[in-house]
Amino acid sequence: MPTADRRRAVHGMPPADGLTPDTETLIDMEKKIIIAIDGYSSSGKSTMARALAAKTGYTYIDSGAMYRAVTLYALRHGMIAEGRVDREALAGALPSISISFRKAGADGRQHTLLNGEDVETEIRDMAVSSWVSPVAELPEVRQRLTALQQEYGREKGIVMDGRDIGTTVFPHAEMKVFVDASPEERARRRLLEMEAKGEHPSYEEVFANIVKRDHIDANRKESPLRKAPDAVSLDNSRMTEAEQLEWLMRLFHDKTGIEI
Ligand code: CDP
Repeated sequence: MPTADRRRAVHGMPPADGLTPDTETLIDMEKKIIIAIDGYSSSGKSTMARALAAKTGYTYIDSGAMYRAVTLYALRHGMIAEGRVDREALAGALPSISISFRKAGADGRQHTLLNGEDVETEIRDMAVSSWVSPVAELPEVRQRLTALQQEYGREKGIVMDGRDIGTTVFPHAEMKVFVDASPEERARRRLLEMEAKGEHPSYEEVFANIVKRDHIDANRKESPLRKAPDAVSLDNSRMTEAEQLEWLMRLFHDKTGIEI
């Protein structure tokens, strides 16, 4: 029996027929899964997803960063004025917005690129945070970014965090987590994060932004923030990062049988 077919047999697959993908691809895809981490603003999803990706060797994709990059583009091009987003102009500009990621900095963290420019710092500031949810409500924006996100997941082995990953982007993800924490705790964490970067908004300002975004995200028409029925809930208000990762790795083991 040819080696490839022997390997297929070990994995319970029929001999190659020339139509299905090659053995290595099939075996790898069988092992790798898609992990969707959704939840409220500043609930620590990104920290969690990044740690999980590092531990499993998976690719981490921050879907929120993609919505933030589109928002930055809209702000820079005058498409947000007089308290509203110019939907038509932004929808028309979408084909000329390219978003990608690259590893950068001493810690090898993922940075977001907007048309090739590293905008990682700028997309986290208050101006973008204030407008990202109204931009993310627009169906044209969601459709475009959802398609891009699905492309990233084609080969599995991915951890993606956001609001609609387990419901809309990857409804068949093998592992889904829905994260929550009290709004006060989330505002406290976000404020610390911003202060560490040299920004000093008031606690009240950060709290108000979080509550407002939660409201828009959970009430919009297109793929609102919801817990997928098969997602596992995690309230991490009183968990350390190490405890969180341990919890996630237990779930990963349950889903894949793989012990790391
Ligand atoms: O970091 P934080 O939790 O504050 O937010 P984020 O993940 O960076 O996402 C920023 C905003 O993008 C959210 O408030 C949503 O309005 C939007 N978003 C979305 O609509 N769908 C996603 N999959 C991810 C983010």
